[in-house]
Amino acid sequence: MLKNKNIVLGITGGIAAYKAAELTRALVKEGAKVKVIMTKSATEFITPLSMRTLSQDQVYTDMFIPAGKHDMAHIALADFADAFVIAPATANIIGKIASGIGDDLLSTTIMAQDKPTLICPAMNDKMLSNSIVRDNILKLKKSGYVVMESVEGELACKTKGKGRLPEISAIIDEIKNLFVPRDFDGVKILVTAGPTEEPLDPVRFITNLSSGKMGYALVAVAQKRGARVTLITGPTSLPLPPAEKIFQIRTAKEMYDSVLSEYRKVDVIIKAAAVADYRPKKIAAEKIKKSGKTITLELEKNPDIIAEVGKRKGKRILVGFAMETQNLLSNAREKLEKKNMDFIVANNLRKKGAGFRTDTNIITIIDRKGNAESLKKMAKTEAAGAILDRVKKMIEERKRTKK
Ligand code: CTP
Repeated sequence: MLKNKNIVLGITGGIAAYKAAELTRALVKEGAKVKVIMTKSATEFITPLSMRTLSQDQVYTDMFIPAGKHDMAHIALADFADAFVIAPATANIIGKIASGIGDDLLSTTIMAQDKPTLICPAMNDKMLSNSIVRDNILKLKKSGYVVMESVEGELACKTKGKGRLPEISAIIDEIKNLFVPRDFDGVKILVTAGPTEEPLDPVRFITNLSSGKMGYALVAVAQKRGARVTLITGPTSLPLPPAEKIFQIRTAKEMYDSVLSEYRKVDVIIKAAAVADYRPKKIAAEKIKKSGKTITLELEKNPDIIAEVGKRKGKRILVGFAMETQNLLSNAREKLEKKNMDFIVANNLRKKGAGFRTDTNIITIIDRKGNAESLKKMAKTEAAGAILDRVKKMIEERKRTKK
């Protein structure tokens, strides 16, 4: 993804500046062409010679030394870049960008460009939590800069706190994200994810093995592609993904209520949740005590959420999932028809690398025209991308035919 991409890396004067060497190496390894701008203070922490060797290019430190076809370095560098990265970014450079100050090559170049820009703050924890620095970071975010969260841990000043530069691999992932097309700008998507829990008594419940990974991957990828995402999630042990609105529910009935109150506000509904089909008919108010050799649980049916949405969806695109252990295609096709979905994502639980709790999935996307596209085993984030590509195609088709 970074092959032949032109990256301008700005390095400012913090102790984490030495990590910019590793970042440059990683970028070059990914096939990117890197040009490095260093502030004067950065050159106190790491030598321009190191950066020149690693980036295989001259290092830019001076406003008044010509670079490329232009006389002015800041314009030439702005022209060259497909994206800008500042790592580490001190409170000083953040403050300068937020206030529109250009008093050296880096701050001036940043002001003279409109490319995707990633800022990676790294500083002492007290500096980072200083309200003026926080406000400046917010201002940058509002102006469209991508600002990475600093990481918690041991800091150079011997204290512990938030302020460390993120791992190089995380920065590389974030740089790749700068190139993800924002083809879902303005599209509202509702995703359901995870299992539901159906209580029996105050300490016991019926659930399933869903981890929420597939649904959360859909949320993260849709959000990156510019969608405004609402997540309705059952209990999972994963950190919540960055959705615009999040409803954390427990039971199928609660998921039903949330979905029915939210689906009207969106364009696309993706039901990745593994909903319990039945719930205990009675929930005991107190813990059920041991008694005879066997006990009988009476279960009653939960509402079929997607089927209800299917009846009311109007022009919305409705995507369901089918997790099967046998007759994958015929079972999935039946669900697609019965619940009035636009397409269904089917996977076979028996296949290694597919289904619950794995980081990968092996999916088949089946549409209403009878087409079934089987994809190879891939990371759940990649599978999420493929599902969203299909959604996008359907949005485009509908626009063309004005359906
Ligand atoms: N689903 C739902 N509400 C339910 C059950 C399922 O919205 N009460 C949705 C799931 O989120 C999924 C799709 O329906 O998108 C298919 O779920 P699945 O459990 O595979 O299908 P069921 O219709 O429950 O059929 P079965 O359990 O008999 O395979």
